[in-house]
Amino acid sequence: MKVVGYAGNRSAFSKSICMGEKLKIVLQEKNIEMELYTARDNMVQECRGCGKCFDEGLCPQDRADSMGCIREKILEADLIVLLSPVYLNNVSGAMKTFLDRIGSWVHTLQLSGKIGIVVTVTDQSGQEFVTYYLQKILSHMGCNVVGEYKVVALEGLGQEEVVERIVSNIVKAFSEQEQYKSTGDLEKLFQYTKERYVNADMEQYKDESYEIKYWYDSGMAECETFQEVLNLRKLQCRGDVHEV
Ligand SMILES: Cc1cc2nc3c(=O)[nH]c(=O)nc-3n(C[C@H](O)[C@H](O)[C@H](O)COP(=O)(O)O)c2cc1C
Repeated sequence: MKVVGYAGNRSAFSKSICMGEKLKIVLQEKNIEMELYTARDNMVQECRGCGKCFDEGLCPQDRADSMGCIREKILEADLIVLLSPVYLNNVSGAMKTFLDRIGSWVHTLQLSGKIGIVVTVTDQSGQEFVTYYLQKILSHMGCNVVGEYKVVALEGLGQEEVVERIVSNIVKAFSEQEQYKSTGDLEKLFQYTKERYVNADMEQYKDESYEIKYWYDSGMAECETFQEVLNLRKLQCRGDVHEV
């Protein structure tokens, strides 16, 4: 089982990055591998809005910065941890830049079959919105978010204790195979997104549009429910069905 974390922070003294590093160490003790990527140690340029990710399934900037590598690692992972500081009651600019670069995944439910964990760090305010936002974005990519954690830097709340809680949650989520469990919200999202991409009008663009092609080639177009998509992902993971 692989965990990949992304911390949207560029600060040398970042508590979000520190949380990610602690998490990595404690997970290692449980024989769970985690790779942590940070805005501080990686170059992630801003989305230029060219739309190629939507139309062609690729980002021209991936060749010029770290995103190509991070993207691949996320797609290989079973669980994704997003760690964001609260800046002006919102996600940090670095986190938003990162999310924009994977933004097209909300059209292809690219994180289906994966588990998500959200961690926010603040001095005092803004965590409700940031947590809600990060959870929503991951869910819109098909990810089953099983944990939301809030660290209040000024209260000096024991980071170690929060890390322990996250690790227990991750161990439990893996043992209960949460990545293959659907929820009411994911089912609604699937129906809504499927209606948009799989219909008589859209089918003619199957060979031109990456997104529509993905819905058909991945087998999602034939699924009636999101649970069926997850069952398919499970088979693909075991190698019983070829991945696209
Ligand atoms: C530009 C900026 C904006 C911030 N806005 C808020 C805020 O709206 N509410 C708050 O409680 N703390 C705010 N903070 C404090 C950070 O949330 C706090 O320092 C947190 O530890 C940042 O995470 P980090 O340690 O990973 O950098 C802000 C800090 C910065 C640098």
